[in-house]
Amino acid sequence: MKLIVLLLGLSTIANAQNLLKDAIAFRLGASVNPRLLSENEAYNDIAKNELTGLTAENHMKMMLIHPAADRFDFVKGDEIVAFAAATGKRMHGHTLVWHNQVPQWMKDFQGDQKAWEDLLKNHIQTVVEHYKGKVAGWDVVNESFIDDGSLRPSLWADHIPDYIAKSFQWAHEADPKATLFYNDYGQDGHPKKMQAILNLVADLKSRQIPIHGLGLQMHINVDSKRTEIENVIAQSVQTGLAVHFSELDVAVNPKNNPEFVYDEKASAAQMELFKLLFKTYQSIPAKQQYGITFWNISDKDSWLRGYFKRPKEFPLLFDDNYNKKPAYSELINLLNKLN
Ligand code: XIL
Repeated sequence: MKLIVLLLGLSTIANAQNLLKDAIAFRLGASVNPRLLSENEAYNDIAKNELTGLTAENHMKMMLIHPAADRFDFVKGDEIVAFAAATGKRMHGHTLVWHNQVPQWMKDFQGDQKAWEDLLKNHIQTVVEHYKGKVAGWDVVNESFIDDGSLRPSLWADHIPDYIAKSFQWAHEADPKATLFYNDYGQDGHPKKMQAILNLVADLKSRQIPIHGLGLQMHINVDSKRTEIENVIAQSVQTGLAVHFSELDVAVNPKNNPEFVYDEKASAAQMELFKLLFKTYQSIPAKQQYGITFWNISDKDSWLRGYFKRPKEFPLLFDDNYNKKPAYSELINLLNKLN
């Protein structure tokens, strides 16, 4: 009897130590929301204990960090950075240049090419300098290509020729030590988009413009094609740049069926994709492993629920009550076997 109690005790201790972050040598991150960090204890605990990296889900984007032409608002970004510093996590910056979440004053801005360049350069350099030494890497440019591989029309594409290269150069000048990423989604299933990204990397390299990493957002779903995912990872690794799975979530109800039930079958299909991603990531050369970042912490916090209004979606590793889902320990078992 005593032995059983002892064994149970030991296994509880072992389980308590069995954290996913300890089964991997690369960073495990999530994007976070500062309000949840301060108001929700379970959320804060997971951020503190389970992760080794953090990204601001929204608060470093143009709209929030640069609300008026002559005003930057670093308050919420600073809060996340302070939490990361206090709990020993690497902070990733997201994102300097994007077509979305742009403040109205930028949309209304009038000026010639030089004026637009000054605006963007000032934005990038003020933000990067503010976080110099505190933010390890930046998504410098986000989502510049559309599915057919052409440059996405945007404020930046419309007003600043070669804005991608210029943005990387400006970011590098502001913090020469930061790891600079091009970040995008949907490379799987859109080979022309992937090719445009590879062409961009080759072009920047040939012009000695500093680019150090590729962010694969990995907003995928149970129907995503496994071979296409493996292909885009392999192609990204072949560039020699760092690779970041930067916004991972695996949707189980992509068509937003209101009758959807998150049953064992759905959970198993999702688990299989999580395993494929971690296993493949584990095989990347260590110096190219920037890390895997989930897009928020629990299912309840996912943008798929809020932004896309898909209430029956369960895309992350922690459930609505902040409990670990079965995929969590499955991943640890898999990774321990691979180690
Ligand atoms: C999303 C956030 O999660 C939402 O809260 C926000 O309303 C919209 O943006 N690609 C990106 C992220 O690069 O910045 C987006 O984040 C999700 C898609």
